[in-house]
Amino acid sequence: MKPLTAKSIQSQLIIYFTIAIIIPAVITSIVGVKLIYDQIITRAETKVVSDLSTAREIYQNKISHIESIIRLTAARSLVIKAVGENDKVFLQKDLLRTLKREQLDILTVVDKGGKVISRGRNPNSFGDNLLNDTFVERVIKTKQIVRGTDVISGGQLFKESADLANQAHMEITPTPKAKPRTSLSEKSGMMLKAAVPIFDDSNVFQGVLIGGILLNRNFEIVDKIKTIMQERQLYKGKEVSTATIFQNDLRISTNVKNEDGTVAIATLVSEEVNDAVLRDGKRWIGDAFVVNTWYIGAYEPIRDIQNKIIGILYVGILKEPFNDLLRNTLITFLGITLVGIFLIVLVSIHQAKKISKPLKQLEEIAVEITAGNYNHDLKLKAPREIERLASSLNYMARELENEKLELEEWGNKLEKKVEERTNEIKKIHSQLFRSEKLASLGKLAAGVAHEINNPLTGVLTNSSLLLEDLPEGDPKREDVEVIVKETIRCREIVKRLLDFAKQIAPQKKPTNINTLIENIILLVRNQTSFRNIKIEKHLSADIPDIMVDPDQVQQVLINIILNASEAMTRGGDLTIDSQMDTNGDSIVISIEDTGPGIPEHIRENIFDPFFTTKEHGTGLGLSISYGIIEQHGGTINVESITGSGTTFTIYLPIKLLEIETNDS
Ligand SMILES: Nc1ncnc2c1ncn2[C@@H]1O[C@H](COP(=O)(O)OP(=O)(O)O)[C@@H](O)[C@H]1O
Ligand SMILES: [Mg+2]
Repeated sequence: MKPLTAKSIQSQLIIYFTIAIIIPAVITSIVGVKLIYDQIITRAETKVVSDLSTAREIYQNKISHIESIIRLTAARSLVIKAVGENDKVFLQKDLLRTLKREQLDILTVVDKGGKVISRGRNPNSFGDNLLNDTFVERVIKTKQIVRGTDVISGGQLFKESADLANQAHMEITPTPKAKPRTSLSEKSGMMLKAAVPIFDDSNVFQGVLIGGILLNRNFEIVDKIKTIMQERQLYKGKEVSTATIFQNDLRISTNVKNEDGTVAIATLVSEEVNDAVLRDGKRWIGDAFVVNTWYIGAYEPIRDIQNKIIGILYVGILKEPFNDLLRNTLITFLGITLVGIFLIVLVSIHQAKKISKPLKQLEEIAVEITAGNYNHDLKLKAPREIERLASSLNYMARELENEKLELEEWGNKLEKKVEERTNEIKKIHSQLFRSEKLASLGKLAAGVAHEINNPLTGVLTNSSLLLEDLPEGDPKREDVEVIVKETIRCREIVKRLLDFAKQIAPQKKPTNINTLIENIILLVRNQTSFRNIKIEKHLSADIPDIMVDPDQVQQVLINIILNASEAMTRGGDLTIDSQMDTNGDSIVISIEDTGPGIPEHIRENIFDPFFTTKEHGTGLGLSISYGIIEQHGGTINVESITGSGTTFTIYLPIKLLEIETNDS
């Protein structure tokens, strides 16, 4: 398993948090900026459209202004009189004065047939016919005032004045987006004109007064439009608001500037606008590349009095401020997004640490628990779920520790049990071995005893007879008495040997072991060998009567008690106990002395027949006792500590004996 690292969790959390903020932030930025930009552009276009109607109004006002001057002049009686009388001298003087005062470019009067009477600007040019002038033609025809825009040929302009023709003349500068043009020289000009009929006092038509202003290189109207339109003059050195009057496709009056700062007249309209406005007669609104930079522009056609499209009126506002606004908005949005991401990363680092640190701790603890170290009481400052996990881990560690301790304890117990059982098996094994040894020795002893018995009887009979025959006081009598006495002793031993070998079956009857012990104590207490021995007894009252041969058991107890007294020649304590053993299936009798103990090297042999350490011992006491207890289904154990005493313990089973009783 790849180890858990605080870093990997942290970086993953940070990546997730960051992605979670970047995606919506970017979408919001894009959508937001687009919405804002569209709104701004729409508003800019609306403004341009309204600016265009303002421009149209200014344009029309100028025409109205010209009309009113012409109308007033044509109504003056002196003028009417002079026209009627063909008074050229008066008219020359008067028209020139009015022309100058009202800043008109032309002021011409024709008679009712259309023949020029006088030109205010050029007194020497008269007598020609102006019937080809649509304005004049229409006034003569309708006797109505006519006003509007008109394109006047170079020749006609020249007739009005050479400097007017000069003012109109333009050599066209080619521009990249313009529609190609056949002639790159333009001699005609565009004029705002008004023509008014002249009536005498009797209301008889006398002629026509025509006045006008040449628009070519005249910046009055476009500058006025600009002044009304604009909120500020310049943006980064460029005109913010611009207005232009086109004569057809030619810029004849404008405040758009060239790179070098000169006014950008004598340049052409773009092909796109040319097609839409001049060819199709539509209004055109949109991004326009004007001379050298982008504008949001609005164009509409200028028509002559016959409704023929002869030019374009244009207003535009610089696109750059809007582009800058777009850029700034975008930068602001991106900036906010970046700051947001930065903050989120900070927060997520903090959060990630808060989560990953306790997780890492948990992992370390888990590893330690795996290694068997349960001693942890993990206290964490962490989110609630992790805290819960930690306390589960703590609980698990504690449980594991308890289980482990239990297991260890169980192991120890098992070991002890195995040891106990091994000892028991060893004991049983040695008992078995001893029983076999006893059995074979018993057979041998019985054979020997049987062989000795007959000759011994002969010796006893003959020596007894011999003793009877000897008179009192005979010196041999004492020797024969010794023979008789020793022979009787031999016969006693042989008899005992035979008894031992015969292994007489026990005559069992219900016996109270405590009573048996009490009787034995009474029996031995007054013996001289018990003079210095203090006898103590602890007899448990609640031991049941058991089925045993009381004579045989008494013999066993006497044998052991006598051995104890023989061991304590200089006195000591003899303690006799009786009790039930712990599992309640045997009666346990223990006989303890404070003698010198049994040396380790002979402890194995004390139950052997004829094994004795005593001068006149028979070595049969313990072997006979062993045999008797074995026949009762019990066991004898000995424990001895050299120098401080010996304890013989007899186990007599209860159950077994009871069952045998029931069977018999
Ligand atoms: N209480 C005891 N203290 C010390 N040694 C003992 C004790 N009981 C028995 N013995 C030893 O066991 C031997 C065998 O005892 P036993 O069979 O009764 O034969 P005997 O008494 O005739 O020697 C004894 O000679 C003695 O060495
Ligand atoms: Mg003995």
